[in-house]
Amino acid sequence: MTAPIIRKLPALRAEVSRWRRAGESVAVVPTMGALHAGHLSLVEAAGRECDRVIVTIFVNPRQFNNPDDLASYPRTEDEDARKLADYRVDLIYAPDADQVYRPGFSTNVSVSGVSEGLCGAHRPGHFDGVATVVTKLFLQTQADKAFFGEKDYQQLQVVKRLVSDLDIPIQVVGCPTVRDGDGLALSSRNLLLSAGQRAIAPAIHAALTEARDAIRAGADVTAALEDARRRILDAGFDSVEYLELRDAADLKPLAAADRPARLLVAAMLGSVRLIDNIAV
Ligand code: PAJ
Repeated sequence: MTAPIIRKLPALRAEVSRWRRAGESVAVVPTMGALHAGHLSLVEAAGRECDRVIVTIFVNPRQFNNPDDLASYPRTEDEDARKLADYRVDLIYAPDADQVYRPGFSTNVSVSGVSEGLCGAHRPGHFDGVATVVTKLFLQTQADKAFFGEKDYQQLQVVKRLVSDLDIPIQVVGCPTVRDGDGLALSSRNLLLSAGQRAIAPAIHAALTEARDAIRAGADVTAALEDARRRILDAGFDSVEYLELRDAADLKPLAAADRPARLLVAAMLGSVRLIDNIAV
């Protein structure tokens, strides 16, 4: 059955209050729509852990630092609702823009530390936009648990940090990256790739796994990262924005994998920006 789509905050609040009075636990899965199996894996995890599941769909203008990227972001709401009908979803919250940013909105949630470097360095203001909207969605839905993908690993760490720093009573659950058979991490942006680009795209995951294996086998980190960068460019990517080894928890740069670490990459294929990461 298709879940009802709610566009106004008071209607959301009324529904969630009913659930809470009945003692039911509530999950939220924040998304920007154009749903794929990666998003749906979060919805499934939410349904396993909570009595009620809210999926939010909101293409958040404040987290786009590039107007063309915002304009070209895929919007497929009807199809999204159809896909969610196969899952236990109680409501879809697709707020009108003024339900999130009322006229005169002047508050910014900004997380330092984990948001610096990587995507934070290449997309100015992006994580402030994410932190602000996620804080609002947490407070609007009053959910007990929120589900996020490791695909956006830095975002996951930013959200964990802000929940802890601001004492927001919600548990953030990280879920593994869902990939296509050839290793490409599922992403709404994959829809923007031409057939030729789609064939090149799995090179970033192949390069990450090779670098991980080399580092595990004791290779010098700088050399392994340089090899991986060259592989990605040789495969046909136009540029590599970053390719770095970081501490898995605080995202501080690492020169050696002497603790739980994460390899993270962003690369451009034409005008499409793809990101991926892997545990080391
Ligand atoms: P969006 O890109 O739509 O992603 C929504 C959620 O799906 C994020 O938690 C993301 O990490 C997860 N996700 C995306 N691809 C995935 C994959 N291949 N495997 C597993 N999970 C995946 O991330 C955002 O939206 C926004 O920044 C948002 C948090 C909604 C705030 O606007």
